[in-house]
Amino acid sequence: MRAMLKAVLTLAVLAWSSVAAAQDGYTNTGLTLDGIGKAYMGRDIAAVMGYQGASWLERPDRAQEEGTGRLLPLLGLKPTDVVADIGAGTGYFSFRLSKAVPQGKVYAEDIQQEMLDIVAARKAKGEGANIVTVLGGVNDPRLPVNAIDLILLVDVYHEFSYPREMGQAMARALKPGGRIALVEYRGEDPAVPIKEVHKMTQAQAKKEMAAIGLVWVSTDSTTLPWQHLMIFAKAN
Ligand SMILES: C[S@@+](CC[C@H](N)C(=O)[O-])C[C@H]1O[C@@H](n2cnc3c(N)ncnc32)[C@H](O)[C@@H]1O
Repeated sequence: MRAMLKAVLTLAVLAWSSVAAAQDGYTNTGLTLDGIGKAYMGRDIAAVMGYQGASWLERPDRAQEEGTGRLLPLLGLKPTDVVADIGAGTGYFSFRLSKAVPQGKVYAEDIQQEMLDIVAARKAKGEGANIVTVLGGVNDPRLPVNAIDLILLVDVYHEFSYPREMGQAMARALKPGGRIALVEYRGEDPAVPIKEVHKMTQAQAKKEMAAIGLVWVSTDSTTLPWQHLMIFAKAN
């Protein structure tokens, strides 16, 4: 009798957890290479790149490999815009954004204080006066609400361990009509020399952004050598 009760309870718990997973989009995958053992809407989530790898973000051949100089001109920024570089790392893009919005502001946000220290040290040398560093949480970038014109996400979204919660918080932080520029290695292209868990397909990105109420605006998959630039907007 006891064993039967235990089996019924176990089945009920299993049924409840699969309903919960179906509702929030998360599933446990068990251990995977380079993943965190968790998927979101069917996509394996990658482990966070540690600050120990910071020099890789500043490697001299990055500009040529990733065409980084071509990205900002595609964003249509105004000099007064308020932008957020979420998962800013060493601030590779924050300092470039700072020059693109001289009368605006750049929030350089990351979950690793060590990365933000690198940004602060460079700022202390006189660069990026309009950059504000923000230490975020894994499920909340801690940005002001209805305040941001554009959120830039370069090679970071696939590392979010709580993409739904991060997405909802990013949507709250955007001004009405504000945009997210999602830059991810192209998952459709086997020639892109990056592990699968660090790539995203356009179809997957559209699905995940729709789940947080953002509207797809455009995709550019040809200007950058390896990455999609996908723009999504918050309704006006
Ligand atoms: C591969 S690096 C990219 C850094 C930068 N965007 C660039 O392209 O140079 C990813 C960064 O995202 C950060 N990150 C991961 N999960 C995050 C989260 N939930 N919120 C904010 N940053 C996050 C990591 O700490 C890391 O600094």
